Amino acid sequence: MQSIRQHKPHADSLHADRLHVGIIMDGNGRWATRRGLPRHAGHEAGVEAIRRVMEAAPEQGVGTLTLYAFSSDNWRRPKAEVTGLMTLLRRYLRNETRQLARNDVRLTVIGRRDRLPEGLADEIGRAEKATARGRTLHMRIAIDYSARDAILQAASRCHGAGELTRAGFAQLVTGEADLRDVDLVIRTSGEKRLSDFLLWESAYAELHFTDVMWPDFGADDLTEALASFHRRERRFGGLQPQSTEPELMA
Ligand code: FPP
Repeated sequence: MQSIRQHKPHADSLHADRLHVGIIMDGNGRWATRRGLPRHAGHEAGVEAIRRVMEAAPEQGVGTLTLYAFSSDNWRRPKAEVTGLMTLLRRYLRNETRQLARNDVRLTVIGRRDRLPEGLADEIGRAEKATARGRTLHMRIAIDYSARDAILQAASRCHGAGELTRAGFAQLVTGEADLRDVDLVIRTSGEKRLSDFLLWESAYAELHFTDVMWPDFGADDLTEALASFHRRERRFGGLQPQSTEPELMA
């Protein structure tokens, strides 16, 4: 078990002044079924939507994008669908890593790696290494991810660590130094739940729910979600509008 001192998170202050958007990419299965296609076709079309959003995000003021690709509860799906999703992830890493690096995108994966199919964790590690210098966008993909488990893991690492600050604990939860809290969570397909996604990081996030199915989501939908975000007044419990959570007084 690592102590706080041993834990060395990456610095993410690069994106501190740009928005952090989290997306629950929902509706792939329904999108496919409505077209008489197998569910897997919806997941494949979902990868295209990831490309569109990733390309549009930086010019729309987004510095960090966290995408929910596979929750720890998704292991309950039929084996064929799980295998299909894992194959898609592997193919994505193999086919896209070079392009991500060229586009100056840093890719990281959050979630457990010990239950992934053989070799996938190594491929993730290689993709992270190859894109580590990306500065235009930090794209985080959540795989075998549970926010409650991430918080639990962080809490178990703190055992006996002495006085704890929010910032110190956040590093343990996210594995990053200075990761900006989530500003906006988008969920597609009309569902209105958080489903164990970024619960610590989204303490003050605005929520945007849209009926658009994830495979249909594109740059215009991101623009609409951000426009709705910018119309809102964020006060973080105070009376004055703020762009980020103010430091708490000691
Ligand atoms: C939710 O829709 C979507 C998922 C569980 C998988 C998301 C995966 C992708 C978008 C593609 C793979 C990702 C990468 C990074 C290569 P659902 O299947 O629950 O849809 P439904 O609610 O309509 O059944």
